[in-house]
Amino acid sequence: MDMRQIVILLTILVSSEANHGRISIPLSGNYTTIAREFGFNTRVYDVVTEDGYILPLINIPGKREVVLLIHGIVDSADTFIIRGDKSLAITLAKAGYDVWSANMRGNRYSRRHVYLNPDKDKQFWNYSYHEMGYYDIPAIIDFILQKTGERSLSAIGHSLGNTVFYVMGSTRPEYNEKINVLIALSPICFFNHARPPVSSLLEAIPHISDVLVRLGQEEVMGDETSTRKMITLLCTVIKSYEICANGLLSTIGGSDPDELEPDFLPTLFTHFPTGTSRKTGLHLSQGYLKKDFALYDYGERNIEVYNSYYPPKYDLHRVTMKVVLLDE
Ligand SMILES: *[C@@H]1O[C@H](CO)[C@@H](O)[C@H](O)[C@H]1NC(C)=O
Ligand SMILES: *[C@@H]1O[C@H](CO)[C@@H](O)[C@H](O)[C@H]1NC(C)=O
Repeated sequence: MDMRQIVILLTILVSSEANHGRISIPLSGNYTTIAREFGFNTRVYDVVTEDGYILPLINIPGKREVVLLIHGIVDSADTFIIRGDKSLAITLAKAGYDVWSANMRGNRYSRRHVYLNPDKDKQFWNYSYHEMGYYDIPAIIDFILQKTGERSLSAIGHSLGNTVFYVMGSTRPEYNEKINVLIALSPICFFNHARPPVSSLLEAIPHISDVLVRLGQEEVMGDETSTRKMITLLCTVIKSYEICANGLLSTIGGSDPDELEPDFLPTLFTHFPTGTSRKTGLHLSQGYLKKDFALYDYGERNIEVYNSYYPPKYDLHRVTMKVVLLDE
């Protein structure tokens, strides 16, 4: 993909974000049914990773280049379509791109494994964003390239959906050349400059994690967890804009009432947040506390796992793919 094509893709992207106003928003339904409302058929494939996780990958076929969309933390492929007409998936599909939306391990759709049971086997939840970058993204890329006969693809990641590409680029450098360009929306990697309340949250995570360990709860925000049930009640049944938009979202993501109209709230909170592992949160928090971008810190067990006292750092010099960083 040359510069001109990258610019075209970026333009489409920005216009889909910027062009708000009254839009038709589908409340119910999943990716497939929402896509159909806008005249697009989807194909859903199960991608199986080297370590056995089963990840539904959704394609809206198109004649132009392949664009892979990767969601952020406690999110899913749905995030790219729930805005309906103005969503990224529909906008790219209308422009003719071959759109692929992935689900990384552990969310509502990817609570599946070839032999581990997420409800019974704690080992299922023994992953962080490291495994998403090391196993999930390469498996998804290989699947798409094999299916389409292409040699490379372009990707758009949101938030943690970019971090996983840096993990992949540094730990499996041969994958760099399979990426034409990574467009990174709200990218995260280092948290050195995090301010309250995000910094307070990152500081609190190890304590929350200790409590979860004592409760034997490895899944965070899964559909059956009490946190998630409370959010469903407050944000999709009672529909409190005060708590859900001003309280929950603005605290972490910043306030933007123009972009988050009250009507959209129940739709958003029907699809978000969705589950991930306790370890993913802890790994993020370690990055902030140590001001480092490194593998998961096992403490005393680092010697056994990494043969070193400290977890290895991700070598960002090895991330040679083209990256466009977009932030507000
Ligand atoms: C959406 O739901 C329908 C009907 O239950 C199902 O056939 C389809 O595979 C689902 N799509 C996704 C992306 O999960
Ligand atoms: C989780 O995985 C790591 C590394 O793969 C392993 O060393 C550790 O023992 C596992 N932890 C649990 C609780 O199974």
